[in-house]
Amino acid sequence: MNDTGLVGAQKTLSPVLRAKALDNLLPDPILGDEHAERTMRRLDPDYDRGRFGTSQMGLAAVVRAKAHDDWALAFLADHPDAVVLHLGCGLDARVHRIDPPATVDWYDLDHPAVIDLRRRFLPPHEHCTLIGSSVTDLAWLDGIPRGRPVLVIAEGLVPYLTEADLRRLLTTVVDAFPTGQLQFDTVSVWGWRMSKWDPSLRGYGTRFHCGFDDPASLARWHPRLSYVDEAPMNDSPLITAKAPAGVRRAYRLMNLLPGLRRSTRIVRFRF
Ligand SMILES: C[S@@+](CC[C@H](N)C(=O)[O-])C[C@H]1O[C@@H](n2cnc3c(N)ncnc32)[C@H](O)[C@@H]1O
Repeated sequence: MNDTGLVGAQKTLSPVLRAKALDNLLPDPILGDEHAERTMRRLDPDYDRGRFGTSQMGLAAVVRAKAHDDWALAFLADHPDAVVLHLGCGLDARVHRIDPPATVDWYDLDHPAVIDLRRRFLPPHEHCTLIGSSVTDLAWLDGIPRGRPVLVIAEGLVPYLTEADLRRLLTTVVDAFPTGQLQFDTVSVWGWRMSKWDPSLRGYGTRFHCGFDDPASLARWHPRLSYVDEAPMNDSPLITAKAPAGVRRAYRLMNLLPGLRRSTRIVRFRF
């Protein structure tokens, strides 16, 4: 994946895509995303070879994707007229997995270089519009239809934003729509501080810019916002049920340390 032209945080889409592609090789996958496998194979034909080639240690990222899918499906079942803002979409094929009805307007947003890659590697979807922009340049919101329920999905994005940018994004969205659901994942303050030493992130030339020990408290940022719940990730029953034995053991050990068990929190809010 060296010649993609991606820089910094944009490169972090690749380990997540790889985890989703490897999941699809399991006999009983968690996500079962054929697009991920096909895209990963085209980007790096040898992605599943070599010493760590078939390691499923990234399975928690797949669990995270599944949690976001399940929440999104439930919201769309109740709000078939919704507008979906899938922010920091990377090369994730959520719109194909969910395949929303024609009454839903879906927007996939990421940096222009990532959106160019999406155009090359993922098929279009008739209810999906691609937006090449930084999520922090809120001018992109001007082109989104208002007056309808909104579903905001941000998988793996929030840690790359500053707290000030995240707050501006969330409060602007809540102000702009009558009702909606926000679902995203956050890292802990410790995870944020340690990210500058993380060898993978250093390799990509990036680090995290925010972290929260109590992500539910973000509901206080807007009077209309309320916290709903959290989905498990590193200690998800899906890992116990579906991961190969060695990976299950590794997660069990890791989860003995509360700091690692809850290093990422998948949270949902409504307004
Ligand atoms: C860890 S990847 C996750 C990708 C995708 N959501 C997934 O789960 O497969 C983080 C993504 O956030 C995007 N990103 C980071 N900062 C962004 C910003 N300011 N505006 C738009 N996208 C951003 C990156 O380009 C990258 O695609």
